[in-house]
Amino acid sequence: MQERSFPKNFIWGAASSSFQIEGTVPGDGRGPSIWDDFCAQPGRIRDGSNGLVACDHYRLWPRDVELLSELGARAYRFSMAWPRIFPEGRGRSNAIGLDFYKRLIDSLLEKNITPWVTLYHWDLPFALERKGGWRNRNTAFAFADYAAYCVAQLGDRVKHWITHNEPWCVAVLGHRLGEHAPGLQNPRAALETAHHVLLSHGLAMQRIRELAPDATAGITLNLNPAYPATPGKPEDEAAAHLFDGDFNRWYLDPLFRACYPEDMIQHHENQGALGPRGWDFIQQGDLKTIAQPNDFLGVNYYSRTVLGERSAAEKAAQKDPLHYTAMDWEIHPEGLQDLFVRLARDYPVKAWYITENGAAYADQLTADRQIHDAHRLRYLALHLDQVAQVCARGIPLKGYFAWSILDNFEWAHGYEKRFGLVYVDYASQERIPKASFHWLKEVIAANKVFDVL
Ligand code: FCB
Repeated sequence: MQERSFPKNFIWGAASSSFQIEGTVPGDGRGPSIWDDFCAQPGRIRDGSNGLVACDHYRLWPRDVELLSELGARAYRFSMAWPRIFPEGRGRSNAIGLDFYKRLIDSLLEKNITPWVTLYHWDLPFALERKGGWRNRNTAFAFADYAAYCVAQLGDRVKHWITHNEPWCVAVLGHRLGEHAPGLQNPRAALETAHHVLLSHGLAMQRIRELAPDATAGITLNLNPAYPATPGKPEDEAAAHLFDGDFNRWYLDPLFRACYPEDMIQHHENQGALGPRGWDFIQQGDLKTIAQPNDFLGVNYYSRTVLGERSAAEKAAQKDPLHYTAMDWEIHPEGLQDLFVRLARDYPVKAWYITENGAAYADQLTADRQIHDAHRLRYLALHLDQVAQVCARGIPLKGYFAWSILDNFEWAHGYEKRFGLVYVDYASQERIPKASFHWLKEVIAANKVFDVL
C-alpha cells in the first residue's frame, strides 16, 4: 500500500448511536423504545442481552468525549434517542433528556469537535409502535415534529443533521426479515415502512430548512454494491441487478430522482408483496416531498454482496479473517471505490460523507490489558486507501466517520460483536483504546494513510 494524502479540510470523525451506547437509565424520563421491547422477547438477541446498561455512556459521556478528543476527531456522529425527548413519541417533551444532549454537545464544542446529530437510529418510541409504528403514516408526521423540536432547541449549537440512519435496515431487517425491532416478517409492512421513513425524511428536511436555513442536512443510507459471481452470466447479472434495486436504488431513486425504480415496482407486484390494497400508501405528492434537496448523502459502507455460485477458493476464504470479519461480512475495499464512482455518475449529490465504516473482530485483552487488533487496523487501512483514491478522482467525498468509537450493543448480536476503536470492559466499564485507535490517531494527525501491514 502506498502512502496517500487526503484533501485539506477532510472531516475525520467517529460514530455511535443512542441505543447502542447510552444505557436506558430509567428515572430520567425516557420512554420505552421498540428495542427495549424487542430485547425483552426471548430469543431475539443472540446473547440474551439488552440496552439497559450498554456502555453507560449516559453517565460516562465525559470520558467518551475525552477519547474522541484524544483521537483527534474533528466531528462526532451520534444519535438522539427520540423516546428521551418525547417519551410517548409526541406531545409531552422531557427536559431532562434534552439537557443530556445539551451537555454532551457543549462539551464537544469546547473541544472543537463538531456534533453531527442523527435524529433516528432505530429507537422508535414504543407508544408509536402501538399505533402501527412506521406502517402508520402518522409516524412520519410525528417524526417531523420531533425533528423540528430538536432543531429549535439545539440549532444554535448543532449545524449538522442526519434525519435517518439506514432506512433499508428499518424496513427490511425490522419488517420483512424480522431480525430487528419490531420483528415483523411481512413484505407489505416493509414497503410501507420504507415509504413512511422516506416521507418523514422529506417532511423533516422542510422543517429543518425553515428553522435553520444555515444548517447542513441530509440522510444516511447503507449501500451495498452487488456483483455477479460470474460476470456476463445472465442469471448472476439479473440477481445482482435485483439485489441492487432492493438494497440501494429503492432508497436512492426516490431521494434523488423523485421516483421508485420501475423494475422493482414490477418485482414487488410479481411477488405479491402488496396484498389487495396495492400501493395505496403512496399518496400524490409524496415523492416530491421525499426528494427535498439534501446538502449531502451519508454512506455507510461495510461490504459487498456477490450473487450466484462462487468459486471453491472464494468459499474457502470464508473462514479467513483476512477476507471476512466476525460478522461474516466479506472484506472488499475496492467495492467502496466502485460504489462511489457509480454513485457520482448516477446521482446528483453535492457532497458525500462516509458516515460509518469499520469491522467486528473477537478482540482479546492481553495480560497487560492491551488490544492488538491487527485485523481491524488492516481493514481500516485498506478502506481508507480507497477513500483517498475516491477523493483523488475529484469525487466530493468530504469526510469519514469510523464505526465505532466504542464497542457497543450490536443489535441482534448483543455484545458479542465488537466494532470499537476503544475496547469496553463491560464488567467495569473501563475503556481501553485499541491499536487501531492509536493508528487512526496518527492517520488523522498526518491527514495521510500509510502502510502498516
Ligand atoms: C450499521 C448500523 C450501526 C452498526 C453497524 C455495524 O448497520 O448503522 O448501528 O450496527 O451497522
